[in-house]
Amino acid sequence: MEKDGNDMTRSDLTVSAEEMERQKEFTAEIRQMPGRPESFYVVTYGCQMNAHDSEKLSGMLQEMGMTEAEDREQADFVIFNTCCVRENAERRALGNVTWLKEIRKRNPGLVIAVCGCMIQEPGMAEKMLKQYKFINLAFGTSNLWKFPELLYRTLNTDRNTVVVENEDVIPEGLPISRARKEAAYITVMYGCNNYCSYCIVPYVRGRERSREPASILREAEELLRSDVQEIMLLGQNVNSYGKDLGGGMSFAGLLRELDAMGIPRIRFMTSHPKDLSDKLIETMGSCGHILPQFHLPVQSGSDRMLKEMNRHYTRSQYLDRVRKLRAAVPGIGLSTDIIVGFPGETEADFADTMALVEEVRYDSAFTFIYSPRVGTRAAEMDGQIDPEVSKERIQKLIALQEGLQQETMARFVGMEEEALIEGFSRRSTLEVSGKGRHGISITLRGGAEDIGRIVRCRITGLKNNTLTAERI
Ligand code: 5AD
Ligand code: SF4
Repeated sequence: MEKDGNDMTRSDLTVSAEEMERQKEFTAEIRQMPGRPESFYVVTYGCQMNAHDSEKLSGMLQEMGMTEAEDREQADFVIFNTCCVRENAERRALGNVTWLKEIRKRNPGLVIAVCGCMIQEPGMAEKMLKQYKFINLAFGTSNLWKFPELLYRTLNTDRNTVVVENEDVIPEGLPISRARKEAAYITVMYGCNNYCSYCIVPYVRGRERSREPASILREAEELLRSDVQEIMLLGQNVNSYGKDLGGGMSFAGLLRELDAMGIPRIRFMTSHPKDLSDKLIETMGSCGHILPQFHLPVQSGSDRMLKEMNRHYTRSQYLDRVRKLRAAVPGIGLSTDIIVGFPGETEADFADTMALVEEVRYDSAFTFIYSPRVGTRAAEMDGQIDPEVSKERIQKLIALQEGLQQETMARFVGMEEEALIEGFSRRSTLEVSGKGRHGISITLRGGAEDIGRIVRCRITGLKNNTLTAERI
């Protein structure tokens, strides 16, 4: 199933201006179509990449003349942007799609679409056609840019439309309706070539392809003009940015250029430890706009598991990266992803993971029970772990991390910080909350005027997984 690396030239990858123009024509056609849906709702599952794809879907829908509905029950058009990285994400999406069938009894004109990674899975399109006949339109991540054309076709036929083309392309210039004005996502690269043995992403998001630096910088400049406070650079493995460009631009180089533009805060995700270069670490240390935070998925603390997972680093190489990051950026906020219950994981392997977590002292950890994905290598491996054992292990891991987190977060108490305020806190309308430079949530007294702004504050204490602060 693995695909060949660089068998195409760059110009083949960027969707042509004529094609993009054609999509605009479909958009205009839909706008004028009598009886077309008036309102839309986008339901998003999964990672930031999907959240950003949903911003593109919303942008396209608004250009078609539709307005965003309050919730999915009020909308004439509902689209589910799905994830398939673990089975429960998939189950939840399918459950919610089926539930919407009931809503159609009240609103017979309701148009239902499903897109994203799940549709791109081998065999899923056929399943959609057979088992979910009430869905009007289904298309994969690689067809996102063709959404106007696909919706136009759907609205002009009684049959359902299912399209999965497996194209590894780069679409430029899609309209984006950003969820937040002050903090924006920018995709720097699409796809992944790593084939970690548990992971479905390379099969559903295609091979790695980097956007041209000029396009990224142009997007960042536009955002800066619209008063953006923070940008988050997105890619499955941002550290290998530029490897396919041939022009010598690396991720560190790209960061330096963005830093020089004067965007107040720059973050990025996700990084692969094997591609985390010394140059990037140096860049982190020397560029003032790059936030002192790093998401560095370790997945396991056992060398044997790391090998089986096809991660291409050892525990000690990982720890070396952590040490270097901490030396270059003292106090850096560190987060990670960890999988428990990978096929063949013994108590000793799991103990290695626990020990690593204890040694590193992360500011946060996303922990997952291994979920077999059809088509990946790990799904075929011997030694699949009893779900009860995995559950026990994840509970132990979460308990350990929670305890350690209280200790690691205490290092911020008394420190000056800056929080980019997202909104009112969940507990009170007299408090606002946002993210500090190290990536940790901060709550402080404030009001509507603070939302979207960077507020200087002093950390006064901790409450669960957030820091409390006073404004300076
Ligand atoms: N099972 C469990 N967790 C997974 N992840 C990716 N694939 C799987 C899987 N099959 C986790 C990894 C990755 C994060 C985004 O999701 O930890 O870093
Ligand atoms: Fe999946 Fe590994 Fe690629 Fe991350 S780096 S998307 S875990 S294959």
